[in-house]
Amino acid sequence: MKPFLFLTSLLPLALFAPAFAAEEVRVYSGRHYNTDRQVYKKFSDQTGIKVRLVEASGISLVQRLKSEGKNTKADVIILVDAARINNAANAGLFGNIQSSSLDQSVPSRYRDPKKRWFGLTRRVRAIIVNPALVSPSSVTSYSQLASPALKGKVCLRKRKNVYNQSLVADQLALKGTAKVKTWLKGLTNNVRQPYFGGDIGLIRAVAQGQCGVGVVNHYYLARMRAGVNGKKDQQFANKVKIVMPKPAHVNISAAAVSRYSKNKKNAVKLIEYLSSPQGSAGLAGPTYEFPLKGVGGSTYLKGMTKFTPDRVTISQLSRYNKEAIRLMTEAGWK
Ligand SMILES: [Fe+2]
Repeated sequence: MKPFLFLTSLLPLALFAPAFAAEEVRVYSGRHYNTDRQVYKKFSDQTGIKVRLVEASGISLVQRLKSEGKNTKADVIILVDAARINNAANAGLFGNIQSSSLDQSVPSRYRDPKKRWFGLTRRVRAIIVNPALVSPSSVTSYSQLASPALKGKVCLRKRKNVYNQSLVADQLALKGTAKVKTWLKGLTNNVRQPYFGGDIGLIRAVAQGQCGVGVVNHYYLARMRAGVNGKKDQQFANKVKIVMPKPAHVNISAAAVSRYSKNKKNAVKLIEYLSSPQGSAGLAGPTYEFPLKGVGGSTYLKGMTKFTPDRVTISQLSRYNKEAIRLMTEAGWK
């Protein structure tokens, strides 16, 4: 009797184990948007692969990956900002991805030439203006922010924020050290202090006339206009004009496969889905970012959808990150 009992108790388990042990992929994400979950769910519905999500700030995710080393359970890493993802790649945290589908979905400027990360969504570092104080037509480029006419009117986010580091890196790639030094001198000279801790606070300050002009990622303004942060912020956002600089600095959020993923096949499948036209639009739509191709159709993106990206690639942005920080510090960018 005993062997039989043993068998009957094991048999159902053995038979059904494959169905229960659903395939899964673990994602460490520095994108903190609830709406991303709907995109993961669509992927799961289509493939039967479960997505387990760990969300935290980009820096802490990178730290965690480093300390977990070979024992990490992460399969896919998603981070915002070019420099951050490339620094993590250079720290040896990611594996290489060979995928013709990714090569096709992600334009070459938005992916790593060494195939360690691929872009998912795009964001533009835009100029916002209080039209009562500054004419939007006087600030159609980043370089005009250094014009002496704007003394005491420019508000900026703090130096430690990666978005502005990438903006300065972008200008370095385009114009070289000497020109950027001069630009930074004029720019920091125009700043109305204090430097801001976030883009949303900066938009409020421009709306209230504490600043005439500021620099923010476009989607913060779109989100405020959409009422995501409530009525008051919506009113602020509607008082502000946005200028998409000509040409515009474009940054990305991007995905990579963890070097020690035990599940690389599914990890790549997920990234392929997220960067596909459907996946990229699914991530970018609700957050008012731009997908990899095209601009989406939200009415809250009014005035933001016509922009020409400059010729700087995402991997160039990270190459100039250190020099950018150095020059910002030197110019007194706090
Ligand atoms: Fe952001």
